[in-house]
Amino acid sequence: MAARERLICASDDLPDGGKGVRFETQTPLGTAPAFAVRHGGKPFAYVNRCGHVPVELDWQPAEFFDYSGLYLICATHGALYAPDSGRCVAGKCAGKGLQALAVTEHEGQIFLIEQGESSE
Ligand code: FES
Repeated sequence: MAARERLICASDDLPDGGKGVRFETQTPLGTAPAFAVRHGGKPFAYVNRCGHVPVELDWQPAEFFDYSGLYLICATHGALYAPDSGRCVAGKCAGKGLQALAVTEHEGQIFLIEQGESSE
């Protein structure tokens, strides 16, 4: 498996604890909505699917943080997730966290790290 990077957005598009960026990713089950946010100065990305019911989290398009700016919140029933791990910290997620995606940041841009098929 060879990893490759796919551009998500510019670094400036992700303010710390602020609005995120929506994008799509490939999962074993097909294309899925995903999002990136910044927390503690670092970018993080997750499949946009709550651990409670498989619905998207954002309460307005690309708005994932709660009012404190410290947790990701599901708009449907208010489950809270740690933005740096996707771990369920409160609410109906009942221990089921978000599915994390690998990202990297360099040269003012944020990239999704995808695992591709090896040609060997
Ligand atoms: S669907 Fe997300 S908390 Fe219920």
